[in-house]
Amino acid sequence: MGGPLVYLNGDFLPIEQAKISVLDRGFLFGDGVYEVIPAYGGHPFRLKQHLARLDDSLRGIRLASPLADGDWATILARLLEGRPGDYSLYLQITRGAADKRDHAFPAVVKPTVFAMATPISPPSPEKLQKGIAAVTLDDVRWQLCNIKSITLLANILLRQQATEEGCDEAILIRDGQATEGTASNLFIVKDGLLLTPAKGPSLLPGITRDLVLELAAGAGIPLAEASIGLADLEGADEIWMTSSTREVMAVTTLNGRPVGNGWPGPLWQRMTCLYQICKERLRTGAEG
Ligand SMILES: Cc1ncc(COP(=O)(O)O)c(C=O)c1O
Repeated sequence: MGGPLVYLNGDFLPIEQAKISVLDRGFLFGDGVYEVIPAYGGHPFRLKQHLARLDDSLRGIRLASPLADGDWATILARLLEGRPGDYSLYLQITRGAADKRDHAFPAVVKPTVFAMATPISPPSPEKLQKGIAAVTLDDVRWQLCNIKSITLLANILLRQQATEEGCDEAILIRDGQATEGTASNLFIVKDGLLLTPAKGPSLLPGITRDLVLELAAGAGIPLAEASIGLADLEGADEIWMTSSTREVMAVTTLNGRPVGNGWPGPLWQRMTCLYQICKERLRTGAEG
């Protein structure tokens, strides 16, 4: 009798029964924002931080937050009920369905609120040990990349180009500086120093990015937020891409050439261990 439940506008129902209007502005314009939160053993990872970013995204598109953090926690707990494995929680809020298609905000409209849980598996040990291939591409996205907008066409086209070039991710270059990946943040290591571009409108403030910085600081790894040019990328000892679902991945090939010695580096090994410890602490309910 139907698949796992999803949440839509106050109801929990099987996914095939979850329906929205064709006039929904998310469907017509991509007028909405989203979040992706991993959950391990029934515990959402860094929930507070993800919900704070969701609020920032909503503020960024001038949409009032339809739910309080406590409401979200209740909804997500219900979606995870009886599902003890690892899940990705997807939350989406659009400006809702107006009675006609018009770019300007409708005077009266009720946001559409949707959430679902999808099983995830961590990157395979083979993939982790081998690392991924990346290609640098022109960052053709808009100027408000700090908003986690559902309007992802540029990211999609860039990721598709990377895929067609046999790569797992694209590293995006804007005005000569690397910003981030199509769905991940960027770190490099040079002479033992961990570097990542500073937050701002040209990149999404990744929750994994913050965690990696926190873990690095706690472990005494020297770090800095700094601009990363193409030459810095090409001369890096290590390159990492981070995201909630792909965790910390080492880039071992850049534009067809090996990064460092072509294998994930020692600092990546250290960081990935620290990250796994965090995840395991969460499973036992010790960390949020
Ligand atoms: C463009 C972009 N940058 C960075 C990230 C990483 O963010 P997080 O670590 O919060 O998953 C994502 C995640 O999907 C993303 O889409």
